Amino acid sequence: MTKKDVPEVLTVGIEKYSNLGFGIARIDGYVIFVEGVCPGDIVKIRVGKKNKNYAFAKVVEIIKPSSHRVEPFCPMQRVCGACQLQFIDYDYQLKLKKDIVEDAMRILNELNLDIRDVIPSPMIRGYRHKIQYPVCETKDSKRILAGYYKIGSHDLVNIKYCPIQPEYCDNIIEFIRITARECGIFGYDENNHIGELRHIVIRNSAYNNKNLVILVMNSDKNLMKFKNLAHRIYTELDNIQGVGINFNSAKTNLILGDKTEIVAGQGYIEEKLCGKIFKIGAKTFFQVNPYTAENIFHYVREYISKNFDSPLVLDAYAGIAAFGICVSDLAKKVVSVEEVKDSTDLAAEIIKENGIKNIELYNMDAAKFFEKELKVAGRKYDAAILDPPRKGCSKESLDNVLKLTKGKIIYVSCNPATLARDLKYLLEQGCKIELIQPFDMFPHTYHIETVVVLNRSFE
Ligand SMILES: C[S@@+](CC[C@H](N)C(=O)[O-])C[C@H]1O[C@@H](n2cnc3c(N)ncnc32)[C@H](O)[C@@H]1O
Repeated sequence: MTKKDVPEVLTVGIEKYSNLGFGIARIDGYVIFVEGVCPGDIVKIRVGKKNKNYAFAKVVEIIKPSSHRVEPFCPMQRVCGACQLQFIDYDYQLKLKKDIVEDAMRILNELNLDIRDVIPSPMIRGYRHKIQYPVCETKDSKRILAGYYKIGSHDLVNIKYCPIQPEYCDNIIEFIRITARECGIFGYDENNHIGELRHIVIRNSAYNNKNLVILVMNSDKNLMKFKNLAHRIYTELDNIQGVGINFNSAKTNLILGDKTEIVAGQGYIEEKLCGKIFKIGAKTFFQVNPYTAENIFHYVREYISKNFDSPLVLDAYAGIAAFGICVSDLAKKVVSVEEVKDSTDLAAEIIKENGIKNIELYNMDAAKFFEKELKVAGRKYDAAILDPPRKGCSKESLDNVLKLTKGKIIYVSCNPATLARDLKYLLEQGCKIELIQPFDMFPHTYHIETVVVLNRSFE
C-alpha cells in the first residue's frame, strides 16, 4: 500500500510495541505507529502526517480492547507522559519489553540467541528515586506548578501525587510550591525564558529515605530568595539530607547547569548496595531504580565470581564506580574510568571509606583512556564492564576495548537500538554472544535495561 492509499480514519489491529513506545499496526506493509495502545487492541485511528513507508496516528475509539488492559493505578496516567504502559498488566509489560529486545537484535542475524526473560523490578510502585519536575506558574494567580509534561508536548501537568516515586517526595514538592511563593520566587516561563525556578530535582535514598533537594534557578540574581527557600526546606521538613541551588540560565533542555551550591546540609544521599554505603550527588549518574540496580550489580558480581579467579576488571563509564566497587573483593584489581568529576570524586570517597585498596580511578573520557591504556599500561583485562550512555560506544572505542580485553565483555545498556548496533560490530570482529539478560529498570514505561555477556577469547 502506498501512502496516498492509506485512509485518514480506519480500524486496525495493534500487532506489537515499538522501542519508542508506540503500538504498531500494518496495512499491506505500510506501518502505522499508534499512541496509547496495547498489542491485541482493535482501534479506530486518525492518521496524521504520512511519510513514504510509515505514519503516526491517534486513537479515535477502542473497538475491542486487548485482554491485557488494566485500570491504571494513577489517576493522571492518561494526561501525564511518564508511565506510558501503566494501563497494561505488569506481566505483559515484561513480555513486550522482551519483544523489544528481540526485535532490536534481529539486525544481528543470529539464530539461537539466548535472550532470557526480563527480570522484573522488585518494586513496581515507589521505585523511582530520582525526580526531576519542571516548574512554571499560572498566568494570573502566579501559583507555582510542578510536574511532568503531557505526552509529546511541553504542557505541564501539575502532579500532586505520583505513585511511582516515594510518597515523601510529593510532600517536599507541595511544600516548595507553597513556600517558593511565600519567598517571592516566580516560576519559570520556558517560552519567554523569564522567571526564576526552573526545575525541582530530588534524589531520595531507598536506604534511609533521606532526600537531597536541588532548586534549579534561571539566573544567579535574587539569590537570597532561593537561600531562604533552601533553609526553610532544610529546617521545616523532615528527612532532608541537603538542599542546593543549581544555576542554569541557558536556553536548553538540559536540567542542571554546571554550578551547584549546597546551601544547607550535605550535597549527597547515601544508598546501600552490595553491603556498602555509596554516595550519590546532584550531578552524579545513578540508576533511578535502586532495587533493579542492585539486582544488576549482583548479577554481574555473580557472573564474575563464577567465571574468574582474581581477575583484572575494567569498569568503563563507571559513574560512582558502583560495578567496580561491587566486584572489587573478587578482583585482583579494578580500573574504573568516568568523565564526570563529581562522580569520580564521590567514588574516591566511597573507596576510601570502605577501605578498598585495589581500585584505580580515572577521571577522563573513556575513549581517550582506552587509547592511553593501550599505549602506556600494556595490560590485558580478564573482564571489561561497559555501561555507556544511551548513544552507546564508538567503533574506535569498541576496537580498543577488544585489544584491551582477553576474556569477556559485559555490556550494560539502557538503549536496545544502540546496543544491537554495537553488538553487531563486536560480532563482526569475532566475538560471540553468551547471554542476553534484560532487567526492568523502568516499570510502566517502554524503557528496558539489558546486560549482555560477550566472549572475546577468539585469538
Ligand atoms: C549509564 S551511566 C552508568 C554509570 C554506572 N556504571 C552505574 O551503573 O551507575 C553512564 C556513565 O558514563 C559516563 N560517561 C558518558 N560519556 C562518557 C565518556 N565519554 N567517557 C567516560 N564516561 C562517560 C556518564 O557520566 C555516566 O556516569
